[in-house]
Amino acid sequence: MGKAWGYRAFGGADVQEFFERPDPVPGPAEVLIRVAAAGVNPLDHKLRSGHAAALNGHLPFPQVLGMEAAGTVLAVGDDVTGLAVGDRVTGFALTGAGTYAETTLLLGESTARIPDALPETWAATIPVAGTTAVDVLDQLDLPAGATLLVNGIGGGVGIAVAQLARDRGLVVTGTAGPAKRDLVTATGATFVDYTGADVVDRLRALAPDGFAAVADTVGGDSLRAVAALAAPGTIVSVGDPSVTDLGGEVVRRRLDRANLAAVADLMATGRLDPHVTRTYPLADADEALALVEAGHTAGKVVLDLSR
Ligand SMILES: NC(=O)c1ccc[n+]([C@@H]2O[C@H](COP(=O)([O-])OP(=O)(O)OC[C@H]3O[C@@H](n4cnc5c(N)ncnc54)[C@H](OP(=O)(O)O)[C@@H]3O)[C@@H](O)[C@H]2O)c1
Repeated sequence: MGKAWGYRAFGGADVQEFFERPDPVPGPAEVLIRVAAAGVNPLDHKLRSGHAAALNGHLPFPQVLGMEAAGTVLAVGDDVTGLAVGDRVTGFALTGAGTYAETTLLLGESTARIPDALPETWAATIPVAGTTAVDVLDQLDLPAGATLLVNGIGGGVGIAVAQLARDRGLVVTGTAGPAKRDLVTATGATFVDYTGADVVDRLRALAPDGFAAVADTVGGDSLRAVAALAAPGTIVSVGDPSVTDLGGEVVRRRLDRANLAAVADLMATGRLDPHVTRTYPLADADEALALVEAGHTAGKVVLDLSR
C-alpha cells in the first residue's frame, strides 16, 4: 500500500484528497517505481479540472495527480528492455497511474536511467519541461547566432529553453514578470518585463527587424501580441493550439527514452539547471499544485518524497 494524492471527481482544489492504494502492478510495457520526486506541472490541474478530458476522461476515479517522476525501479513488465530492478530512473506516467504518490507506474519506453550524480528532484523535471525545451529548439532548428524570443521565459519550460538555446549559440530575449529579472539574466538572456506598458514596442526596440523565431509558453493574447515580431512560420507554442491560426506550430513532442536520457546528460554535464525553486513534501502536495495553478512560478516546483 502507498499514499497517493488525487481527486475523486473533476473540479477545483476542493476535490483533491489523499487515499491509500495498493502498489500498482506493472503491465507488460510498464515499470513500477518507488517515487523519490515528482514534477508539478500546469497540466496536472488542467487534468483535475476536466479541461483536458480528452486525456483522462476515460480513466476511473480516483485519479492520481502527476505526469512525471524520478525514483527507483521496483518491478519491470515482461516486454520492457534495458531497465532493471534497482535502477534510478525518470519517466512519464502515461498510462494514468499518476506520480503524486509513494509508488507508481511509468511507461517503459518513456523511462530512462539517470546518472548517479543527478538528484531525483532535478531528474523529475526532465520528462515534461526538459524534453519540451529540447523539442521546441529542435523544431525551430535555428542556426547559431540567430535571435530567439522566449515568451514566458521564467517558468519551467521557458527557463530550460533559455539555457539550451544559449548552449546552441542563439541570442535569447525573454519576457517574464519583474520578480524573475535575476533568474532570467543569469541564463544570459535579455530580460523584458511583460507587465509594463507597450511590451511589444519595447521588444521591437531591441529587435527592429524582428526575431528569427518565437518560442511561446504563455499563449492567448500574449502570444497574439508577440507573434508580430517574427515570421509566421517561425513561431512554436508549447501550450496554445491556436498558434496555428497565426501560421505557427504547436510543439511536436518526443516522449521516448533517448530524449529523456539526452536531457539527463545535459543536466549532469552542467548545461541545464531546471531551477527547482520550491520543493514540498508529498503531505503538502495541495500547496505545491496551488502555487503552479496561480500561474507565476519561477523555474520548477517539485514534490520531494524524502522530505
Ligand atoms: N505540449 C506539451 O507537451 C507541454 C509541455 C510542458 C508545458 N506545456 C504547457 O506550456 C505552458 C507553460 O508550461 P510551464 O511548465 O513552463 O509553466 P509554468 O512553470 O507554470 O510557467 C509559466 C510562466 O509563465 C509566466 N507568465 C504568465 N503570464 C505571462 C505573460 N503574459 N508573459 C510572460 N510570462 C508570463 C509565469 O510567471 P510570471 O508571470 O511571474 O513571469 C510563469 O513563470 C502550460 O500551458 C503548460 O501546460 C505543454
